[in-house]
Amino acid sequence: MATIEFDRERAIEHDEAQPGQTLLELARAAGIPHAAACGGKGRCSTCRVVVLDHPENLAPPSDLEAALALKKGFDPNIRLACQAVVRGPVRVRRLVLDDEDIQLAVKGNAQTAGKERHLAILFSDIRDFTPFAEGHLPYDVIHILGRYFKKVGEPVLRHGGYIDKYMGDGIMAIFGLERASAREACYDAVAAAIGMQESLREFNVYIKSQFDTEFRIGIGVHFGPVIVGEMGHPEKMHFTAIGDTVNIASRIESATKALGAPILVSHAVRQQLGDAVRFGVAEQVNLKGKTGPTLVHQVLGLADAPSGDQAAP
Ligand code: FES
Repeated sequence: MATIEFDRERAIEHDEAQPGQTLLELARAAGIPHAAACGGKGRCSTCRVVVLDHPENLAPPSDLEAALALKKGFDPNIRLACQAVVRGPVRVRRLVLDDEDIQLAVKGNAQTAGKERHLAILFSDIRDFTPFAEGHLPYDVIHILGRYFKKVGEPVLRHGGYIDKYMGDGIMAIFGLERASAREACYDAVAAAIGMQESLREFNVYIKSQFDTEFRIGIGVHFGPVIVGEMGHPEKMHFTAIGDTVNIASRIESATKALGAPILVSHAVRQQLGDAVRFGVAEQVNLKGKTGPTLVHQVLGLADAPSGDQAAP
């Protein structure tokens, strides 16, 4: 009798299995609490297992699985349980949910378990901040940053954004957590970006008078799938978003410097917004860590904006 064995957990007799079932479906049917943050869509890789015996009894990887395995650098003996269709006896071991993961899941909630969402991610950064910081007293730098974060944080919050973190002088914000549609998430993020540039103009009046300088900021926005949840040490958990969408948003922000554009958004954002936003030039850029060019669009302002709600020149 053929056996599908989850090493150190449960062995399932093959005649319990339905034709075409995946490892994830079998594990779930057997009561094994198998991780599947993306819901089995082949996007998160949290369902990964190592195949210990008889890899030939799993159907070959789908295009989806092969692409994710390539991206993650998996060895051929690492398979996605949600994609691997069982054809015969096989022995696997789960790689993601160890005992500590299980404790966290029991202690936590849906947030700590991680969940895939489609959200807009915004990154901003002050251009040439390092020379400014090096040329001023630490007290002044902290004071200035405090005023800056308050000023540019206000439009983020006003448009429903969640300020995820500060990275030096940079900000990462998430849009769409409370909104139903992709379009709303993208619109909020772009409106916040425009508002940040407007707030910066007000902030610059102050810093010009006190320090005889002005800041310029670059903002990048991307929309796509992310995994959100509480992450970190159990004593200091932090709600955040991770994934390629986040990395790409950060790199789009980096591209604002080379292109001299205050706000750049990905084509995914542009597609959601139609004519609700006025866009400037579109350019193909090479983003660090991405193969091939990526189309980005400069944002000029909101289509129905009052006069103040425009991106900086
Ligand atoms: S559950 Fe996300 S890749 Fe399998």
